[in-house]
Amino acid sequence: MRSYQIPFLALLTGVASIPHEGLTERDESQSFCGFKVPTDNDAATISRLKEFDSDYAFSSNQGILEVAEPIVVEMNIHASLPTDSPDDYASEEVLEKQFDVLKTTFAPYGIELTLGTISRELNDSISNLSGGKYAGNYGQLSGGPPALEDYWKRTRTGGYKSAHLYVYHQIDDGFIGISSFPELERPESDFWLDSVHLLALTLPGSTSTIWNQGKAAIHEFGHWFGLWHVFRNGCLPGDGDMVDDTPAQVDNHYGECPTDADSCPSLEGLDTPWNYMSYGGDACFTGFTDGQVTRVHNMFHNIREVV
Ligand SMILES: *[C@@H]1O[C@H](CO)[C@@H](O)[C@H](O)[C@H]1NC(C)=O
Ligand SMILES: *[C@@H]1O[C@H](CO)[C@@H](O)[C@H](O)[C@H]1NC(C)=O
Ligand SMILES: [Zn+2]
Repeated sequence: MRSYQIPFLALLTGVASIPHEGLTERDESQSFCGFKVPTDNDAATISRLKEFDSDYAFSSNQGILEVAEPIVVEMNIHASLPTDSPDDYASEEVLEKQFDVLKTTFAPYGIELTLGTISRELNDSISNLSGGKYAGNYGQLSGGPPALEDYWKRTRTGGYKSAHLYVYHQIDDGFIGISSFPELERPESDFWLDSVHLLALTLPGSTSTIWNQGKAAIHEFGHWFGLWHVFRNGCLPGDGDMVDDTPAQVDNHYGECPTDADSCPSLEGLDTPWNYMSYGGDACFTGFTDGQVTRVHNMFHNIREVV
């Protein structure tokens, strides 16, 4: 196992949230995810992190994954739903489809997902992610009401590289997804807070007009693996999302898929609503950049595998 120590990475804090589709007009996406100006700590973190990117270079062009070994992640899925839910609501079959979407999407990037447990509980006290506590400016979950904390503690098994997807009937504050971010100094006593939380409305085959193919979960796991939004910091000079090959953009293109948008015309490159770390939506999302995949491998081997 590789074990570079990069203490600065502990300073990285998490983001991650997409708003409910109905909130688009109010532009909640931007108020939830923010365009934070990088602090000196962020800049230091970025430069330390980038030193290691070359060890994990990924090239989709050549079909070559130059990393030493693929990432293998056990994916566990837990749905908590109202007691009066119909059998076909977020059924095990649908949850398995969600797993298949994740597995198929991440596989070409040298990220192998294996299926751990799938559970589906009908329990009104945990079907609604409300009263969550959020750390910092970014919506990273730092706690919740007693019933939810109990639920997470009894179901979030495994180490820091063990993935858990929680699916809820409802999430407050307009979120459709929330994710933690890899932190080098995450204490084991906090692992129960390390997971992805997802609105059932985004599962494959749902009635949502934008999030109906299960790709919101891919976006959230992008954060879990260490990626920021491609529109982070908009057109501000600097290193927006900390990844070199994602052009700066200020428009998050919520549910839209323009091919020629350029919301930062004075900076290089067109907008990438197709990027999983944008908000283009399921009909638009098609991929990650090589730089993003490289970063994911870097962060997984140097953070999730060693914490
Ligand atoms: C979820 O809980 C919050 C806070 O208790 C409440 O305001 C909201 O109406 C609930 N949503 C649903 C769908 O039960
Ligand atoms: C519902 O979940 C809570 C929180 O984990 C738990 O305490 C309670 O026993 C569960 N209820 C049932 C009926 O399983
Ligand atoms: Zn996000």
